[in-house]
Amino acid sequence: MSFETVRIFDTTLRDGEQSPGCSMNLSEKLSLARQLEKLGVDVIEAGFPIASEGDFESVSRVAEDLRETTICGLARTGAADIERCAAALERAAKPRIHTFIATSDIHLEHKLRMGRERVLEEVDRAVRQARGYCDDVEFSAEDATRSDWDYLVQVFQAALEAGASTLNVPDTVGYTTPDEYGALIRHLRKNIRGIERTVLSVHCHDDLGLSVANSLAAVRAGARQVECTVNGIGERAGNTSLEEVVMAIKTRPDVFANLETRVRTHEIYPASRLLSSIIGIPVQPNKAIVGANAFAHEAGIHQDGVLKHKLTYEIMTPESIGKTASELVLGKHSGRHAFADRLSELGFELTGEAFETAFRRFKGLADKKKTIFNEDIEAIATDTVIRTDEPYHLENLSVVTGTTATPTATVELAIDGESRTTSAEGDGPVDAVFKAIAELAGSKSELVRYQVNAITGGMDAQGEVAVTLSEGGRRVIGQGAHTDIIVASAKAYVHGLNKLQWHKRRRPVGEPKGI
Ligand code: KIV
Ligand code: ZN
Repeated sequence: MSFETVRIFDTTLRDGEQSPGCSMNLSEKLSLARQLEKLGVDVIEAGFPIASEGDFESVSRVAEDLRETTICGLARTGAADIERCAAALERAAKPRIHTFIATSDIHLEHKLRMGRERVLEEVDRAVRQARGYCDDVEFSAEDATRSDWDYLVQVFQAALEAGASTLNVPDTVGYTTPDEYGALIRHLRKNIRGIERTVLSVHCHDDLGLSVANSLAAVRAGARQVECTVNGIGERAGNTSLEEVVMAIKTRPDVFANLETRVRTHEIYPASRLLSSIIGIPVQPNKAIVGANAFAHEAGIHQDGVLKHKLTYEIMTPESIGKTASELVLGKHSGRHAFADRLSELGFELTGEAFETAFRRFKGLADKKKTIFNEDIEAIATDTVIRTDEPYHLENLSVVTGTTATPTATVELAIDGESRTTSAEGDGPVDAVFKAIAELAGSKSELVRYQVNAITGGMDAQGEVAVTLSEGGRRVIGQGAHTDIIVASAKAYVHGLNKLQWHKRRRPVGEPKGI
């Protein structure tokens, strides 16, 4: 039997990164991009090069680094956008320029202030310009689902004739429903001449909680590319969740007959964990596929059924998404080889000094903690490796506290390689630590939220702290893990400050980021 491929276009690094608190620095983006290549997605949208120097650099570094996956950059239809995007993709083995313009009357009138004819000219000009740089050009009609269907046919016809090979139909505001979206896809397939020479793509937002259902309805109607993000992160309520689309197609071959994706599903869980440890946003426990409870059978009647035969209540196995039981994976006697293997299984490829640092921290943790879980190893890897190029590093911390003593913290912080120390008093030990760090870093940020989680079970569990910091209208989430909750808090706070600093240091070139 021959199968048709549904391409998976991952936009975690672009649309996903646009959601509040989800910004990533260059090394975080590179780590995630490598995991996405391992996962087997067809296209990685790495950023919006004209938006900022940081975005330009991350698209070009990802393009340089990955050789198997198509690397895509986003550009509006303006000539400068497309030129910048092409420059960022210069060293890509498989580049794609993704250009877009809005097509709904609401956007034309209030945002673009252009007539329909003018937009058609823009589409033609932009796609031709992009084709001058590369063969693989995608065109998106922003707000397609609120656009006039016959006008959409004209727009896509123009894009196709100018040389676009992928035509994307975004539900930008998460407004459509599965029946309606499926009908729109059929309408486009029926009325665009030469449509069989292109791939029809879908891109849904989750404002009504329908993004996955809409994307799957579109696939059933003939769409052959789904744009999505890991854990469904993205603008407002998020984008279509990659893991849900991929596992639905795999689990229901009767519904999605002769269709498959190229995703290696056992890399789904490592990708999900890697993303949430980078951005510091945990996945909700009841999230389909990757939530902590997705495979947990609580009700007695369910447990009884699963013990008798897994198929009674399990439609897919945790192993199929790469989720092995959170068992003891390594201990204090484990050597370099076992540690390297486990890191690699979790999506981290570390070499040289980075590996040695992580290994030393693992040994240090194993001395304090009897059982080392996957989550502990992820925390070490994220903390030591991904964050090496940041300006602030916590060097030392000591705290005096108690029922009668005034909580006092002494903190040593390295700022761009130079160590500084100070002490501060606070309402409690965490408050004192935060005050000392803020003083050393000269930070005016406000602490908006402070959250503590035990990563794994047991008395010696590592604590995972997430802090939300706000400064100048920007919000970031910092994360830290340690067996000592005060140290975890300090690390999370320093991580948050590093993120704010990264935003300050990256100079915007185009309009403000976001679409
Ligand atoms: O939601 C949207 O319309 C987009 C486009 C740029 C594809 O993200
Ligand atoms: Zn979008």
